[in-house]
Formats: sequence, structure tokens, C-alpha cells
Amino acid sequence: MPIEVLASAGRAEANAKAGRSGWAYAEDVPVTRPSTAVPLIDPFARRVRDLRLSVTDRCNFRCTYCMPGEGMEWLPRSELLTYEELARIARVCVERWGFDGIRITGGEPTVRAHLPRLFELLRPLGVDLAMTTNGVRLPELAHDLAAAGLQRVNVSLDTLHPETFRALTRRDELDRVLAGIDAALEAGLKPVKMNVVVIRGINDHEVVDIAAFGRDRDVGIRFIEFMPLDAQGDWTMDQVVPSHEILDRIHAVFPLEADRDRHDGAHVEPAARVRYQDGHGDVGVIASVTEPFCESCDRVRITAEGKFRTCLFALEETDLRATIRDGGTDDDVAAAIEAAVGTKWAGHRIGQVTFVRPSRSMSQIGG
Ligand code: GTP
Ligand code: 5AD
Ligand code: SF4
Repeated sequence: MPIEVLASAGRAEANAKAGRSGWAYAEDVPVTRPSTAVPLIDPFARRVRDLRLSVTDRCNFRCTYCMPGEGMEWLPRSELLTYEELARIARVCVERWGFDGIRITGGEPTVRAHLPRLFELLRPLGVDLAMTTNGVRLPELAHDLAAAGLQRVNVSLDTLHPETFRALTRRDELDRVLAGIDAALEAGLKPVKMNVVVIRGINDHEVVDIAAFGRDRDVGIRFIEFMPLDAQGDWTMDQVVPSHEILDRIHAVFPLEADRDRHDGAHVEPAARVRYQDGHGDVGVIASVTEPFCESCDRVRITAEGKFRTCLFALEETDLRATIRDGGTDDDVAAAIEAAVGTKWAGHRIGQVTFVRPSRSMSQIGG
């Protein structure tokens, strides 16, 4: 297939054009994309261009909103896609349809052995390479991951208090996660963002302190509405703190501008970002429950065992591992993905009577 260098990755450039004072992106890298790539369009005319690859269902934490304290059964090693298989699917998506972003997720991706090797395999694709992590292994891994091609990282951290951290994660590792954020910044990963799931009565009183932490440290905070993807099925609507309430609380202390921005180059992010009036960057809210952003969704997911999902809340999956391990060609893989994308729905219906929870919890999907 003919390959040509099309452009730079464009995010830093787009930010500059948009006059963003917020999170800086790593230097643009040349993007190598095939001249024959055609857009992959779903039934609701949305272009699919973002791939989320889960590399493991395991995790070294047990966040209450994601996993039970004990009794999790892990996938056997042989059922996980190998790094080569993951990289092959990613290559098909970049070559055929010009996907321009790949995010590595888990469980917790850093518990899988030799993770830098996966980034070495993905780097030649020349696309935005990101990872979502709980951060606890970043002190030892951030440098090697950045050297292997990882460009940016989102660290999940919901509290700055050791006791709340222990209650939420069932682990005593707040200091190491904070050290992980520092390690990511030192390794040159840009931007470093922090995902904060807000749960009423647990950590909502910390919203302003966490916003202040982000302003001080050049960390992009994104407050996330709690979604019904906890393993125990305990989610209730009254635990959700609506994004407008989060922004009101911040605005009372650090005044915010009125406009929200969800654009990042050609991508539309889940996070709506609002700038501080004093020019101290911005803060994001991910309003999955109260203001769903499904109409601009550009992503698809692959679980650790190779199930292709067209939505976080999808009830159906396509077994790409079977296609690959039965000797399928790239055309077969592409046909399976195209067929699945052809069934992508308009979006989830959290809060409506027609909503059906997927049987997988967050750690088994990859977030
Ligand atoms: P950026 O590219 O940095 O914007 O990352 P991201 O926000 O897309 O990914 P991340 O893994 O950090 O996810 C942050 C939160 O957004 C998590 O709670 C995800 O579950 C949620 N999220 C990510 N993608 C989707 C989606 O397609 N739909 C919904 N409803 N939530 C999503
Ligand atoms: N609702 C919202 N976000 C969640 N995450 C995990 N479980 C939930 C949930 N039930 C977040 C994690 C991580 C990302 C992958 O998803 O905090 O940042
Ligand atoms: Fe692990 Fe992330 Fe789930 Fe927490 S949210 S248990 S860090 S996979």
C-alpha cells in the first residue's frame, strides 16, 4: 500500500491556532498515513478515528466504582491479544481509515509486562499515542514509556486525601500516584491530565482543592460524572454530581469564562473545557450522564481479549481475536470492523427507562 507523509499530528498546531492557553501538547511528530485511507463512517454520519486498546483486565487497585474488593477472576494469559495482534489491528485502522489516535487502557495497563514494547510497535504508525493509567507504576515506567513512543497520559486520581484514597481504591498508594504524576511531567509526557470521578458524599467536597492542584502543577483536571459501570451495580443517580454543579463550585473561587470547548484538533473530546478568567489554563468536565456527547463520538474499543466494541455501553461485541487466530487476512479484520461499525448506535440512554447496563464493568472494557 502506498504510504505518504501527510501532515504533522496537528494537535499542537490546532491548539496554537485556537489560541489555547491550556494544556500544551508534545511537539508534533510527522504522521505517516496511506494515501488510500478513506474515512470510516457510522450509520449516524460520525467519522470513526479513535481506537482504544485495552491490554489487560487486571489492576493493582480495586476502586469501589469499578471493581469488587475481592473475587475478581482474571482472563488467562492465552486469551489476551498479544502486542503483535494489537498492533496489527491498530495498523489496519490507521492504514485503511486514517485513524489518528490510539489510547492504551486496562484494567491498569502498566501491570502488563513489557508495556514499552507495545509503544515501540505502535510508534511507526505516526499517530497520537496516549494512555489512561492509575499512575502508581509511573515512577518506574514513565521514562521508558515516553522513550518508546507514548506521548501523553491521563492519570486517574479522585482525591488528595490519603484516607479517602484508601476508601476509594482499597489501597494505600496516594503518595506513589502523586509521584507518578511528577514522573510523567518529568518524562516530558504532554499534556498530563487527571481524571477525577466525582461521587456525591465521597469526594465532591474536594472539587475546588483539586482544581487548585491542577492550576498549580500544569495538570489538566477533568471531573467525570459517575457512570453506571461499577462492578457491583450499586450506581444510583443521586450519587452523580452534575457537571454544572462542579463548575459552579469552581467558579465561586476561581472565576471561569462562559464558553466551553470540546475540540482538540479534529477530535472532539469527551471533556468540555472551560478556561479560567485569570489565564491559568482550563478545567474539564466529562458530563456523560447529564449531557451525553454521543452525537460527536469518534471512538471504538477493543477489550483485552480482542472483542471489538462500538460503544462504552455496547451490548454486542465482535470477536476480532477469532478472526485473527483463525488465520484471517487484513481484509478479513477490516471487514469485521466495518460490519461492526455499521451497527453502531446513536448513543447510550443512561437515566431513561430504555437504558440497559452492559454486563462488563469498566475495568473489563477499558474505560
Ligand atoms: P482524551 O483523549 O485525553 O480526551 O481522553 P479521554 O477522556 O477520551 O479518555 P480517558 O480514558 O481519560 O477517559 C476519561 C473518562 O471519559 C472516563 O470516565 C471514560 O470512561 C470516559 N469516556 C471515554 N470515552 C467515552 C465515551 O465514548 N463515552 C462516554 N460516555 N464516556 C467516555
Ligand atoms: N464512571 C465514570 N468513570 C469511571 N472510571 C472508572 N469507572 C468509572 C465509572 N463508573 C474512569 C476511571 C478512569 C477511566 C478509564 O474511567 O477513573 O479514569
Ligand atoms: Fe483499576 Fe482503573 Fe478500575 Fe480503578 S478505575 S480499579 S484504577 S481499572
